[in-house]
Amino acid sequence: MIHVSNLKMSFNTVEALKGISFSISQGECYGLLGPNGAGKTTTISILSTILKASEGEVSIAGNDLGKDPLKCKKNIGVVTQEIALYNELSAYDNLLFWGSMYHVPKKELAGRLEETVDMLGLTDRQHDKVKTYSGGMKRRINIASALLHRPGILFMDEPTVGIDPQSRNLIFEVVEKLHKEGMTIIYTTHYMEEAERLCDRIGILDDGEIVAQGTLSELKASKSMKESVVISFTNLTDEAYNTLAKKWKDLQRFDDTIHFYSMNVQGELAKIILTCNECGLDFRHIDIQKINLETIFLSLTGKTLRD
Ligand SMILES: Nc1ncnc2c1ncn2[C@@H]1O[C@H](COP(=O)(O)OP(=O)(O)O)[C@@H](O)[C@H]1O
Ligand SMILES: [Mg+2]
Repeated sequence: MIHVSNLKMSFNTVEALKGISFSISQGECYGLLGPNGAGKTTTISILSTILKASEGEVSIAGNDLGKDPLKCKKNIGVVTQEIALYNELSAYDNLLFWGSMYHVPKKELAGRLEETVDMLGLTDRQHDKVKTYSGGMKRRINIASALLHRPGILFMDEPTVGIDPQSRNLIFEVVEKLHKEGMTIIYTTHYMEEAERLCDRIGILDDGEIVAQGTLSELKASKSMKESVVISFTNLTDEAYNTLAKKWKDLQRFDDTIHFYSMNVQGELAKIILTCNECGLDFRHIDIQKINLETIFLSLTGKTLRD
C-alpha cells in the first residue's frame, strides 16, 4: 500500500532523514516512534507532499509520489503537528472551508460534517469560534478536517501532544474506530504507550534512521531482552550474594540491590523470592521491570525517548 525506500532529506547541513525504508499494508496502523528531532514530521511532510525529499522513492496505493503527487494526495488525510485553523471562525465554518478545499461534493458536505463533528465529540460547540476552544478541541477539529474527504489513508503527526486527557482518550477511540473500519494509518509519537496501544507495527526512528521495526513482540524478541526482578535488601552481605549467585545464574549486583534476569519473571518470581528467603535476606523493595518500547529504545540507542 505504502512503500518508502531509502528516503533522505537534508536541510542545508542537517541530515534529517538518512535513508529510511518501510512498507505498510492496506488497513495497517504503522507507528513511527521517536524522540524530538528524530525525523517524524519530516517523514510525514514528505509523504503528504508538503516537502520534497532529497533522495529516495515513495509509492502510495500504486502511485509514484515523485511523478504523481496529486494522485497520491487525493486519498490521504493529514493531521499535521501544527494546527492550522481560523480562530475567528466557528469549528463548523472551518470545516466547511476544508471540505471545499478538498473538493467534497456540496451535496454531501453537510452530512459528512455532521457525522465527523459527532465522531469527534464537538457537536455542542461546533458553532462557537475556534478562539474559545481548548487545545484538545482544536486538535479534534484538526482531525475532523483531515477526514472530510473520506481518505483511505491517514497520517497523524503527534496528535496528542499538549492536550487534556479527555481529548486524548477520545482521539485514541477515533483512531481505533478508523483502524477497525480499514483505514491505513501512519501515527507518529514519542509516547511509547500510544504506539503500543494503537499500532500493528512500529518503526523506531532515531536521528533520521529507523533502528528497528516490527510488531511489539517481534521488537521484544529481536533484542532477546530479558525482564528482571529488582530487589533491594536491608542485610545483603558478600556471602549471601555468593550463595545466591550459585543458585541463580543470571543476576547482577549494584550495592544492596540485585537484578535477577529472566525471560519470564512472572513465572519465576515466587522461586526468586523463595531463594532469597533461604539465604536469610530481608527485603526493602521489590520491583518488576518488564520489557516495553522504552527499554527497547534505550537498549538500541542508549537514550531515553524523552530526553
Ligand atoms: N525546515 C527545517 N530547516 C532546518 N532543519 C529542519 C527543518 N525541519 C526539520 N529540521 C531538522 O530536522 C531534524 C528532524 O526534525 P523533525 O522531522 O521535525 O523531527 P520530529 O518531528 O521527529 O521531532 C531536526 O534536527 C530538525 O531540527
Ligand atoms: Mg515533529
